[in-house]
Amino acid sequence: MTSEALSNLSHEDRRFPPPEDLAASANVKADAYDAATADFEGFWAEQADRLDWGQKWDRVLNWDDPPFAKWFEGGTINASVNCVDRHVQAGNGDKVAIHWVGEPEDDSRDITYAQLQDEVNKAANALTSLGVTKGDRVAIYLPMIPECVFTMLACARLGAPHTVVFGGFSADALASRVEDCGAKVVVTSDGGYRRGAPSALKPAVDDAVAKLADGEHAVEHVLVVRRTGQDVAWNDDVDVWWHDVVDDQSTEHEPEMHDAEHPLYVMYTSGTTGKPKGILHTTGGYLVGTSYTHWAVFDLKPDTDVYWCTADVGWVTGHSYMVYGPLANGATQVMYEGTPDSPHKGRWWEIIEKYGVTIFYTAPTAIRTFMKWGREIPDKFDLSSVRVLGSVGEPINPEAYVWYRDTIGAGKTPVVDTWWQTETGQILISPLPGVTEAKPGSAMTPLPGIDADVVNDEGESVPDGSGGYLILRKPWPAMLRTIWGDDERYKDTYWSRWPNVYFAGDGAKKDEDGDIWVLGRVDDVMNVSGHRLSTTEIESALVSHPKVAEAAVVGASDEMTGQAPCAFVILRETAVEEADEPGEGADLVQELRNHVAKEIGAIAKPRQILIVPELPKTRSGKIMRRLLRDVAENREIGDVTTLADSSVMNLIQSGMSGSSDE
Ligand code: PRX
Repeated sequence: MTSEALSNLSHEDRRFPPPEDLAASANVKADAYDAATADFEGFWAEQADRLDWGQKWDRVLNWDDPPFAKWFEGGTINASVNCVDRHVQAGNGDKVAIHWVGEPEDDSRDITYAQLQDEVNKAANALTSLGVTKGDRVAIYLPMIPECVFTMLACARLGAPHTVVFGGFSADALASRVEDCGAKVVVTSDGGYRRGAPSALKPAVDDAVAKLADGEHAVEHVLVVRRTGQDVAWNDDVDVWWHDVVDDQSTEHEPEMHDAEHPLYVMYTSGTTGKPKGILHTTGGYLVGTSYTHWAVFDLKPDTDVYWCTADVGWVTGHSYMVYGPLANGATQVMYEGTPDSPHKGRWWEIIEKYGVTIFYTAPTAIRTFMKWGREIPDKFDLSSVRVLGSVGEPINPEAYVWYRDTIGAGKTPVVDTWWQTETGQILISPLPGVTEAKPGSAMTPLPGIDADVVNDEGESVPDGSGGYLILRKPWPAMLRTIWGDDERYKDTYWSRWPNVYFAGDGAKKDEDGDIWVLGRVDDVMNVSGHRLSTTEIESALVSHPKVAEAAVVGASDEMTGQAPCAFVILRETAVEEADEPGEGADLVQELRNHVAKEIGAIAKPRQILIVPELPKTRSGKIMRRLLRDVAENREIGDVTTLADSSVMNLIQSGMSGSSDE
């Protein structure tokens, strides 16, 4: 982040204090910060007491062997019991857990907690009948349909860690995740509805299963939900229909209490290398961290609120703030299958109006899209039920923040800008809606019980008014425990820069009041529409194409998506001749974009691919992405003195007029 951008941010002087009534009845008040500082472990023990445990823990935190934390050591707990059974036992069986809304109109289903219990138990029994036992991994590749939640909770019930793979990922990406965690069962569907049409999912699973068939990690069963009724290829050796295997199962299932540190799930996310990291979350601490923060940050009143998080379940936000946090808190929530513009651009607002949504949690990229579509669309709907708005996934620019507050929140609804990561599992930095005087664009302060700071290269806390690296000094309950199968990578990636300090990979600034402004990644990770992508991963995908000799990818700023991948590609000799033919260059660019979509998924498709003769490199051969970013963002090229050959940038720039993007 340049110092100019830093000082631009500090010109923001709008302030939004909490509404008085919300402040007066808020779940969490200002005293929580001091209480947590005074007795850190006591504070988290108190939050853990909000859950039902089999056996109480002996020790809140074991940090004897950092960075390997154990939370609630000695305790036993079952996440599925906490998310489902205990609400039924408390007499809330008839309460709606999920208002599920399919993309096709009039395709909806209200699921009460009692029904959820039946469905989860049936799914648990079905998975058991397919040979899944405690410790086995189950991959889930499903659209946003209730069966996805049933399966996750069934896995949690059995102690079989799930790995949900976003439906937008390709067969190859799915296969590598299934292989890495050794999942023996994959749960999928024929397809789901997106943008008004059925979109197939099973073919990708078929490809992945075929790819793994002869290896060490062959998939034993594929459990297929019929959602769209599309034709599917069928492999009798592995494929079974959900309705054949699950529907007739018993609705009774005796849960086992698992160790607090028993693995709950693995979620793959991009790092700075080409290989995605399997982030491991365990049970007790994760549930404490997600349920407490969901209750605190959104001020959830489970008896009256209707909560809606628009994130896809394939990402961590869907895990922490659609499944585990809200359900552990006994919330009533909306789950929507499709896209915001289907069948019309007011679909989300129509859903808010219909269900009386009171708490709404979405991403800045969506907000910017709605801004572009115009406020007349949401203005047609009654959004007066909304009382808390949340934002997640990337820095929210002050314009989008204020638009969100004004247009969706009637100019008076607090917006909580929540900072966290796949690795952190839970929100760590955020305003509290009944406490914080919010500033548009700032995630404000660490939550009670969280010790975050901004430091310089030496790991020293920077003074207010300065920028640096965002770090965490103390463990927190929902933190990742390791990278699946790779403790060394876990240590190196997150804990090696400064001793026993977690480095998040983000840059941040403390303003004059000490409030935190998260500025984005400082590593080779980009954030596209709130989805995390690694530059190296896209580079590897490009280089795997037979016509590509070398590739460099940068995340360039993008008005809609926050950042967008831009690629600089050197072709192999034979391909250069071909591309020089009139009209061939554009075809080749398209071919490469599609190749990336095939290797990773459509979200990773470069916005722009520039065919270049050379890449800017230092004398030691390191690609200077900073300069490429200047090109991609149409900026004046920065300092080129460390380049091995400073004329390279001229070559690249002169080639730009001939390059194409979509
Ligand atoms: O750069 C930060 C950005 O998203 C990254 C985490 O991405 P992921 O693990 O995919 O999780 C997304 C959902 C939590 C962070 O390193 N990020 C997330 N929330 C914010 C944010 N950047 C600024 N402000 C936020 N509120």
